[in-house]
Amino acid sequence: MIYLDQSSTSYPKAPGVGDAMRDFLEYQGVNIGRGNYREAYSVELNVLDTRERLARLFGYSDPRSVIFTPGVTFSLNAFFNGYLDRGDHVVVSGMEHNAVMRPLTRMANTHGIRYTVAKANRQGQVCVDAFEEAIEPATRAIVTLHASNVCGTILPVEAIGQLCREKELVFALDTAQTAGSVALDMEMMNIDFLAFTGHKTLGGPQGIGGFIVKKELAEKIEPFVTGGTGSRSDSFDQPSFLPDKFESGTLNLPGILGLRAALIYLETQDMETLNSHKMALTKQFLDGVREIPGVEPVGLSGVAGRTAVASLNFSDRDNADIAYQLEKRWTILTRVGLHCAPVAHQSLGTFPQGTVRFSIGATNTAQEIDTAIEALRQLMC
Ligand SMILES: Cc1ncc(COP(=O)(O)O)c(C=O)c1O
Repeated sequence: MIYLDQSSTSYPKAPGVGDAMRDFLEYQGVNIGRGNYREAYSVELNVLDTRERLARLFGYSDPRSVIFTPGVTFSLNAFFNGYLDRGDHVVVSGMEHNAVMRPLTRMANTHGIRYTVAKANRQGQVCVDAFEEAIEPATRAIVTLHASNVCGTILPVEAIGQLCREKELVFALDTAQTAGSVALDMEMMNIDFLAFTGHKTLGGPQGIGGFIVKKELAEKIEPFVTGGTGSRSDSFDQPSFLPDKFESGTLNLPGILGLRAALIYLETQDMETLNSHKMALTKQFLDGVREIPGVEPVGLSGVAGRTAVASLNFSDRDNADIAYQLEKRWTILTRVGLHCAPVAHQSLGTFPQGTVRFSIGATNTAQEIDTAIEALRQLMC
């Protein structure tokens, strides 16, 4: 199998992830924040350690601001539902995933909030002026992804953060495609709310992720979910301190401990070296497919300013058939269609047919990329 669907979820997972999850389930298995016994404390220490590693990775000083959720989708829903009120306005980019577009559209229909899409160009770039022009007196936040899951274009996060600082707006960032592969620093980039997922570039398991929220903003966000936290149980009110304000119910402990193992592994690696390997493979892929008649790479022409993602449009061929043939004849796994990002495909000019996406991870090899290029050459002749 040649797995080129790393943007959907990374595979294989980082070394140690499976063992950590199995060890917890087989030899510990207890809950935290509830029982007053030694086993619970030892798991709790590892959960705190995971918060500390995440806070370090994303450049925020307080690990209590790291909130665990199932992933970016849940985290963004928590932000939108907890922060926005009737009449509020939000600016998003023309490259968003439905993790942003659907909750906002629902809230526009049911809660009277409004949003404006800052236009992206055909390369998937959104300049900071487009965000600035979309700001209104009622704007309370700019919400954007860091890099497109369709074509890999990276958005100018530092400049957007600077704009938010100048205009006194909240900056919420979806790092689904960059956490663990592109350096992030919440303080330096002025990010107030950072949504992350564990199962993509971080190399962790599915169903665990979260958000980091700056303390000042946390006070202004209502909890999206309330319930038991194991703390202040004498009160019917949700605790106001972090992380309990935003973490009700039993945590996904196997997921957190699996993610912890992925973070420990990542810390032994040099992010630059991993990235240059992935970007070299992306360049090899783009250079190879550009030679094939009928194949049109979508987005930026080179690898500068993008992550290790390449989307292809096939003139005169059905995308679904290409993806099917790749799997059937070469066991090359890709993702075809709209990638949960119809607005991005509208910006790129590939709506409604979508593209075939090839996304590359640190474990992919030059030989696999050669096989993919050769497979496409054979399919197109
Ligand atoms: C850009 C982007 N945002 C959000 C998501 C959803 O992330 P999660 O699986 O953590 O909910 C994805 C996943 O495909 C994504 O690529």
